[in-house]
Amino acid sequence: MDSLKIIGGQPLSGEIPISGAKNSALKLMAACLLTAEPVTLTNMPNLADTRFLSQLLQTLGVEVYWPKGDSECRLNAEKLTSTIAPYEQVRKMRASFNVLGPMLARYGHATVSLPGGCAIGARPVDLHLQAFEAMGADLLVEQGYVKAAAIHGLKGAQIVFPFVSVGATEHAMLAATLAKGETVLENAAREPEIADLADCLISMGAKIEGAGSSTITIQGVDELHGTNHKVMSDRIEAGTYAMAVAAAGGHVTLTNAPVGALSAINHALRNAGVKVEADKDAGTIEIETTGQPLAPVNVDTAPHPGFPTDLQAQFMALMSVARGTSVIRENIFENRFMHAPELSRLGANIAVRGSEAIVTGVEKLKGAPVMATDLRASVSLVIAGLAAQGETTVSRIYHLDRGFERLEEKLSAVGANIRRTSEEDEG
Ligand code: EPZ
Repeated sequence: MDSLKIIGGQPLSGEIPISGAKNSALKLMAACLLTAEPVTLTNMPNLADTRFLSQLLQTLGVEVYWPKGDSECRLNAEKLTSTIAPYEQVRKMRASFNVLGPMLARYGHATVSLPGGCAIGARPVDLHLQAFEAMGADLLVEQGYVKAAAIHGLKGAQIVFPFVSVGATEHAMLAATLAKGETVLENAAREPEIADLADCLISMGAKIEGAGSSTITIQGVDELHGTNHKVMSDRIEAGTYAMAVAAAGGHVTLTNAPVGALSAINHALRNAGVKVEADKDAGTIEIETTGQPLAPVNVDTAPHPGFPTDLQAQFMALMSVARGTSVIRENIFENRFMHAPELSRLGANIAVRGSEAIVTGVEKLKGAPVMATDLRASVSLVIAGLAAQGETTVSRIYHLDRGFERLEEKLSAVGANIRRTSEEDEG
């Protein structure tokens, strides 16, 4: 199993190109199931998760042309050979569940394994299922599978989500494109990835208004056609590198950055005393530290446009070296502080009380062996390792490979001392 070895204390300087967004790419890939014509996605991130979904799509009969390392992927779902997504594949990645809605909408039936919980929380899919029921689907949950049928097709519906869910909003929007009549999604998630998905669907002939706001209206159409769509850049990757520079010190320009999607993050970084210059037209964000200690900043995770839960771990690593105490509240997932004890192994002073972490900054972290527990937790340990004195080894980095493209290459290019090693897992 691979590990990362980091010798901390090197300031970072230069440019880091931001890749396509994992969490957008996964839903855009599922959208190919809605049409018999080819969908070509560019700016595709080469990640374990996107490669994994491409395998599942191939199991269903989608022709995938995506040479290794290429950022263009062509998906052709002209003829599906199966509408069953098996447990062995869905359990490995929750976003696989999103193949249900498109297959149900296009074929009138689909059987997809329930995804199960994951390290950061239980993560049920009840809101997804309620949306399909509202659209007239018959659902049977049996032996860990959702068997969904809508023999006469899905019908448009008024769906009021009781709380904001990114996945349920996207899934309902995908399915509603081919439903008969109008669907209105109220209390919809407003994440930028939802607007990206809507843009792609509109270019396929879907009629969608309001994506990016809390009310989305979809007029169903009879069929969708193929398209070429550029995956938006990854705001979580951009925020992660911004925090890495803030923690290690230095001056780095993020290129191909989704500038408009990063307001909450830029705001938190500026409050911590980091210089952040965003240029929307150029798609760049310059991050520069001042040499002064970082100020503590409290953050509460919230649905977009609030502070994203997917950057909470990284921000905790940063606050570990601020001068003073900050409070970080996790409001989206019930078990997303697993990085806290690992950060403590590097000398961070963090007390977790329920959904609150109280972080008292220390002057210096010290390198140590640590273990990654989930995707964003892993990268928070990398950030802490870059800021720490001495050597940090992050093991179990397969989590990291799910969501960060060429991480060690991008960080080495701006002066970080980081390398991947292969070794036996001792844990
Ligand atoms: C998406 O997950 C992202 N994943 C997550 O990124 C991200 O953390 C999350 O949105 C919040 O921004 C992908 O896009 C693939 P939710 P999703 O539905 O859609 C509860 C990463 O690190 N809920 O908005 O699954 C749920 O348990 C990942 O890249 C229900 O109770 O998140 C959670 O507490 C991790 N019932 C809350 O809602 C449901 O039917 C928000 O989840 C659906 C969700």
